Amino acid sequence: MEKQNRFFEGQTLAILTGGGDTPALNASIEALKCRASVLGFNIYGIREGWKGLLGEGDIVNLTGQPYDGWYGGTALRSSRTNPLPSEKNPVSRVPQVMKNLKRYKIDVLVTIGGDDTNGAAKAIYEQEGIPVIGFPKTIDNDLRTRTFHQYKSENIEACLCPGFPTAAKNIMDYAAKICTTSESHSRIIVLEVMGRDAGWLTGAASFGGANMALVPEYEMTEERIEKFYTKVIEAYKDSPKKSLVIAVSEGTRWYNTLKRKTDVVCASSETDEFGHPRFGGISSIIANEIEKRTGIQARGQITGYFARSGECSKYDKRFVNILADRVLDMLIRKDYGKMPVLSRHTKMNEIEEYNTLTIDMGQIENKSLPGIYYDSENFDFHKSYMDFLGHILKKPRGFLFDYNFPKVEPFI
Ligand code: F6P
Repeated sequence: MEKQNRFFEGQTLAILTGGGDTPALNASIEALKCRASVLGFNIYGIREGWKGLLGEGDIVNLTGQPYDGWYGGTALRSSRTNPLPSEKNPVSRVPQVMKNLKRYKIDVLVTIGGDDTNGAAKAIYEQEGIPVIGFPKTIDNDLRTRTFHQYKSENIEACLCPGFPTAAKNIMDYAAKICTTSESHSRIIVLEVMGRDAGWLTGAASFGGANMALVPEYEMTEERIEKFYTKVIEAYKDSPKKSLVIAVSEGTRWYNTLKRKTDVVCASSETDEFGHPRFGGISSIIANEIEKRTGIQARGQITGYFARSGECSKYDKRFVNILADRVLDMLIRKDYGKMPVLSRHTKMNEIEEYNTLTIDMGQIENKSLPGIYYDSENFDFHKSYMDFLGHILKKPRGFLFDYNFPKVEPFI
């Protein structure tokens, strides 16, 4: 049989995944691998993000290998290695990266990551001119993608990053379930949700039935904490089953009486190579204070890595396939230094390639939750954000058993 001459025969495209994992990373790798193979590329996988391009390099050959995109996480593994000079590593490791790209004869690099990984890719692209394409991912959904959400007459600039849809589903399910135990004990459960400095993911707990929510975008000053307690007591009294679930973002700033200022709660004093602290523990602090203040039993519960775990959702799978279609286009046009994104927020069946754009990697930055989505007076999300999530998630069925039994009076 005559060998087909394909555009990029003999060239190599390498993929890396950096930062915190998501359930849609293997799906993204698979989607990119399939499309780049059609163009004739050999496909390499760089292990543990930028770390796999340091030292001797740690690279595997994915060409022609089977790959399961439904399986969550990343088979290439991930790390928070920063090749650029940082406080932890003041010496630039970009020369090592450049050396390995040459040694392994890598022609095109695709970096799947959030603002840290893709920010480093952008800097190396600008410094060294290597052919690089960024591919978005983050469960925090805080990477600016310029995705517009049409809500009534508003055209809201939102974000939509692969990995977030599946994580949102996980958090929605978690919140929907935890209400049964809080009802049995007439308790308040403070449910802590990942998301770093943005409240996008916490909204998924509200979609699942959480009654109130706190997000990092609105710090909890002494004054706001007072207001919050009043609302908590009201909401508890009004709740038919005398229980509440309050979702709280891990990065919420809460007034610390010892430090006399609002501050985040960290699980460790260590920071990563990008300078990020590891958050964790605010839910128990808030639960204890609620209990002290209101006399209602309260417990903290950290959802933690559950958000990032398990298989990729159908929404994410379709989403990354469509973004990878755009990458195919970018490869053919040699359109480097850019990242594919969704331009309009839609339901799953309407995610199509014509609805994607490429944005310059120079424009990569964080974006927090827009004010229109959160009701800071009532410590809850607005309907507009439920509409945003409604495009991605199906509302959980909820628990319909009301147990309004008639009360029995004593005979004597
Ligand atoms: O950025 C993704 C994320 O899951 C954040 O929500 C969280 O704060 C952080 O990563 C946790 O990082 P690590 O995996 O290093 O503990």
